[in-house]
Parts: sequence; C-alpha cells; structure tokens
Amino acid sequence: MTFALQVIKKLRQRYDDSPPIHVTYEDLPVADFKSLFMRLHGLLPMSDNHSYLKDFPNVYVGACGTSFFDQCFTDRFVNFGFSSTAMHWLSRGPCPLPDAVFHMVSSCGEAKEQFSKLAAQDWETILLKRARELAPGGRMVIVNCTTDESGYYGGGRWTSGKVNICQNMSSLWHNFAQRGQITKEEFVNTNIFAYWRSQDEMQAPFVNENSRVRKAGLTLVSLETKLTPCAFQARWRKEGGDARQHAKQFVNMCRSWSYHAFHTGLSNKRTEEEKAAILESFFKEYEDEVAAAPEKHDMEVMSCFLHIKRG
Ligand SMILES: C[S@@+](CC[C@H](N)C(=O)[O-])C[C@H]1O[C@@H](n2cnc3c(N)ncnc32)[C@H](O)[C@@H]1O
Repeated sequence: MTFALQVIKKLRQRYDDSPPIHVTYEDLPVADFKSLFMRLHGLLPMSDNHSYLKDFPNVYVGACGTSFFDQCFTDRFVNFGFSSTAMHWLSRGPCPLPDAVFHMVSSCGEAKEQFSKLAAQDWETILLKRARELAPGGRMVIVNCTTDESGYYGGGRWTSGKVNICQNMSSLWHNFAQRGQITKEEFVNTNIFAYWRSQDEMQAPFVNENSRVRKAGLTLVSLETKLTPCAFQARWRKEGGDARQHAKQFVNMCRSWSYHAFHTGLSNKRTEEEKAAILESFFKEYEDEVAAAPEKHDMEVMSCFLHIKRG
C-alpha cells in the first residue's frame, strides 16, 4: 500500500466529515509524472490495485516539478510533508573525487571535506524552504539515507562477507580506466553527487535555538534510525531461482539511480552510441558479478527518520 493511501485511510477513519485532502507530489522537472497520474486514475496497473482517488471521495491530486532546493509551495500551504530517500542528492558537485565514485569510499580528505561542507549548506537550505511552506502547527517526516556511529551506511554488511556497493562500483569503473576502456579523466569526472549525512549532521541545524532553522520556526520532535532490508536479497534467499534474472533486476535498480552520473562522467568527445556501449558493458560486468554470487550483493538501506514540527 502506498504511503499516501495509508495516510488518507487513517485520516478518513479519524474524521467522520471527510474533510478535503489535497496531495501534491514533488520531484525534479524531468520526473515521470505522467505514469504516476495514469496509475492513480487506473490507466496503468498499481501493485495492490488500490488508488486513493478511486477508494475515497473528496481527495485531489497535483504535482510540483520544482527542486526541493527551491520553495515549492506558497507560504504556509503544507499541513503535512513527507520525503523519502531523496535529500542525500546535493545541489551541485562540490569538486571531483580523484579516487572514487562515492564520497564514502574516497580517501581524499580535502574532497570529503568539501562534500560535507556543501551537504551542511544544502541541508540548511532544504529546511529553510520547508519552513516557509509549512503551515503553523504543520509537521513533516523526512527519511534520509544515513550512516551509523561505526560508519556503516547500508548496502550490505561488508564485514560479514557482503560486497560494499559503493566500493564495488568505484572499483569496477576504475578497472575500466586501467584497461583503457575509459580515460583517467573520465574516471575522476564520474561522481555520485550525493552525501550520506550522519545523525549529528542532520540534527545540527536544530541544536542551537538561535540557528536560522530554529528561528524560521522548525523544531525536531524526534529522530530514529532504522535498517530497511534489501527486497531483492530477501526474495533471493526465500525463493532462489535464476541467478542471471536476479542479477539483472538487482543491477537495474542500481542503474536507475547511478546511470546519469556515469553517463555525465564520459567525455563529450564520445558519441552517444559510444557512451551507451561503455555503460552497457559496465553494467553487464556488474551483472556477471552478482549472478556469480547473488548472496553477496545486498542493498540494505540505513535510514534516519526525522519528525519535524513548525511552531
Ligand atoms: C531514490 S528516489 C526515492 C523515490 C521515493 N521517494 C521513494 O522513497 O521511493 C529519489 C528521488 O529523489 C528525486 N530528487 C533528486 N534530487 C531532487 C531534487 N533536488 N528535488 C526534488 N527531487 C529530487 C529523484 O528524482 C527521485 O525521484
């Protein structure tokens, strides 16, 4: 059941007079809002065949194709906001990482410092924009990728023999550079401009009552960190099956959020066909690795749940 459907069901159980509910989806301008509306209106199948538009009266839906680094709604428009697994994306690339695709597995202290500095600025910007949009008394829940005290950030406990996804993708891409399939420069220019903030980093803007975020009216009600197991790995362990098919699905999931970064890293002197061929063989190599040892590849997610209130 989708999150919106669960919330609407609860609101309808609590209030007898069915007050109007307006749901607005917010994502980047390039997001596929068309499929979303087709699903909600029953023109494409939903996984559980339930759309709140069909199930409940007096519910309205819209979309906002504006980045969360900008203000997305008029002042005090939002009563309840929810965001999941999105705000780790940074507003821009602070600098290239010389030795890795992800900041967590880079050993360049200076570059890591620039990533964490921009992540702190971005987090404050995101919160200040939300502070304007939230109505007084309004609340929001933000679910962010995070790291725990030991530095673990999900993707499978590599200490127990699992493959560290961030390390693995960086190494596979580095092998491409060493074999001459991409240039060294292309390797350096390929970065995932996202940052996994620690819990302290996420709490920081709320600690001091004179901070810009507190002055804008936001307080942190609670913060909780939880692990979400990898659905692909759970299915593989339970049902087994064709390892190649499993690998295709697992790598497709990784491809969906990383393809753009790998594509951007490739030189503009290359043709689109050339870029596509390189990326096909990169993801095929990844797929071969997963198919050879499916139990080692896991996309467990470590998430921090922040409950925030506007006073
Ligand atoms: C991993 S998906 C999460 C999707 C969904 N919230 C979920 O939990 O299944 C990350 C989403 O964040 C969106 N995103 C990334 N940067 C964004 C930005 N600056 N503003 C708004 N959305 C952004 C992406 O387009 C993508 O839809």
